[in-house]
Amino acid sequence: MIEARALTRRFGGREVVRDVSFRVEPGEVVGFLGPNGAGKTTTMRMLLGLLRPDGGDAAVDGPVGFLPEVFAGYEALSVRGYLAFMAGVKRTTSDDVARVATAAGVADLLRRPLGRLSKGQRQRVGLAQALLGKPPSYVLDEPTQGLDPKQVVEMRDVIRSLAKTDGAAVLLSTHLLAEASSVCDRVVVIAKGRVRAEERPGATPDLEARFLRLVGEAELDD
Ligand SMILES: Nc1ncnc2c1ncn2[C@@H]1O[C@H](COP(=O)(O)OP(=O)(O)OP(=O)(O)O)[C@@H](O)[C@H]1O
Ligand SMILES: [Mg+2]
Repeated sequence: MIEARALTRRFGGREVVRDVSFRVEPGEVVGFLGPNGAGKTTTMRMLLGLLRPDGGDAAVDGPVGFLPEVFAGYEALSVRGYLAFMAGVKRTTSDDVARVATAAGVADLLRRPLGRLSKGQRQRVGLAQALLGKPPSYVLDEPTQGLDPKQVVEMRDVIRSLAKTDGAAVLLSTHLLAEASSVCDRVVVIAKGRVRAEERPGATPDLEARFLRLVGEAELDD
């Protein structure tokens, strides 16, 4: 379970996340959908304990598999070396490296140094790292960015199976409505730091029009 309870955060006096609350149940994929600067990454960092909230709190069943927006790793390390190192950090067995490498589609890149990967390849290594140890919760910050169309489909399949096969709670951020509709059971719409709506894509006939209207209304804030 992943729960945000009235999370609030200011930067330099400006409130960039305001009173944000939502829950992700086990077995559920929830999309965090909002325009650039809406507060998605900031909220996720508070959920992960990487950033202190100014108000509210978070409850997350750990450990958490985290795919950051910008994935950083020691550039000279091989993909295998990096995943083995992360397996050690997460106290899971190094057998798990082969499993996550296959699941994330990086099994043929294990000998390559991180510094020589393409953007999409790096993104998949980031996913592989998040999968280590089969955690009960996942926070994925724009998981499909930089991926080609075939990889996007594969990434979405992996994400669905985390919830539907393994029973994990999955929160993913995106600005792509198509992505939200195709992978998510529920979507939390955020704009200008506030939750504007929660929708079930299947039950919302024109999600795009609704999203654009909510974002447009948010522009009138302050
Ligand atoms: N460390 C920081 N210091 C000052 N302002 C920040 C900091 N981090 C984020 N912000 C501001 O907070 C707001 C929300 O940023 P955030 O990164 O959470 O947005 P986002 O929804 O993830 O956007 P994107 O879709 O572009 O990734 C932005 O206006 C951003 O400039
Ligand atoms: Mg972001």
